[in-house]
Amino acid sequence: MGRLDSKVALITGAARGQGRSHAIRLAEEGASIVAIDICAPIESMNYALATPEDLAQTAKEVEALGRPILARKADVRDRDQLKAVVAEAVAEFGRLDVVVANAGICPAKDITLCSSFVDVVDVDLFGVQNTVAAALPHLQGGASIVVTGSTAGMIPGLTDNIAPGASGGPGYAYAKQAVARYVEVLALQLAPHMVRLNAIHPTNCDTPLLHNEDVYRAFRPDLEHPTREDAMPALPAMQAMPIPFIDPVDISHLVVYLASDESRYMTGMNLRVDAGAMLKTSFGVHA
Ligand SMILES: NC(=O)c1ccc[n+]([C@@H]2O[C@H](COP(=O)([O-])OP(=O)(O)OC[C@H]3O[C@@H](n4cnc5c(N)ncnc54)[C@H](O)[C@@H]3O)[C@@H](O)[C@H]2O)c1
Repeated sequence: MGRLDSKVALITGAARGQGRSHAIRLAEEGASIVAIDICAPIESMNYALATPEDLAQTAKEVEALGRPILARKADVRDRDQLKAVVAEAVAEFGRLDVVVANAGICPAKDITLCSSFVDVVDVDLFGVQNTVAAALPHLQGGASIVVTGSTAGMIPGLTDNIAPGASGGPGYAYAKQAVARYVEVLALQLAPHMVRLNAIHPTNCDTPLLHNEDVYRAFRPDLEHPTREDAMPALPAMQAMPIPFIDPVDISHLVVYLASDESRYMTGMNLRVDAGAMLKTSFGVHA
């Protein structure tokens, strides 16, 4: 018996990183999977986004667990694309129970005036809202929505320092803070329908979003082109626990819990998996 037997779970940003990990953990617990990813570049990004091969790899790993998966290329900025995948999923699996709006970017290259701010808000805030909007007409009592925020986005001055002079870092913080408020406001409206909505705010997580030069520079502002080796000794300063980052599966375990009926009376929560990072800020001891 899995904890998610007979449930159908949709995950955005599922081609790699946390999204792939969520797809695998949810499948391990018996869910059928709908995996969405853009699998294409966004101009203001300084690091590459996922590829069609990455999404195919997620599908392969879910299928190896004996669970069905519908994997589709779609851009969370385009609500019509999301609606089309949701309709296909409901036609194929007959229902939709779990939505994990995880897709996100942290861009740092302004092509035109504040274009990285526009891109990050489009993906990390409107992309979340589009995903939820596409799913809502198909959700019934017992359904659970989980959206991804960020602990770093909550800490003043932190992501703002990613590539100073570009607007993507401050845009990231704005988008993630708005996601936190969105969860509280909408969860109250969904509660009478027994549909739940919660956010998870990870700290540094071992994915390509963390491992790129712009984020490294936020931790090593003294270097023009910091490498992973340069950043590693500085990364633990973020957390209260002496670790550089968490693993994607550390988030996936909470996703499974929030997706399952075990958390049936939890809603409107902004939950951190942050190894004490926010506590350091609250107590004013951030490096
Ligand atoms: N890695 C970290 O340190 C960290 C920390 C806090 C929060 N987060 C958040 O976690 C979430 C997952 O990121 P990750 O760490 O797995 O990084 P990642 O870059 O490995 O994964 C993000 C995925 O989202 C996809 N994506 C990007 N734009 C998209 C779009 N418009 N439509 C559909 N898919 C799109 C990418 O192709 C990629 O597969 C993001 O919301 C991110 O902001 C990450």
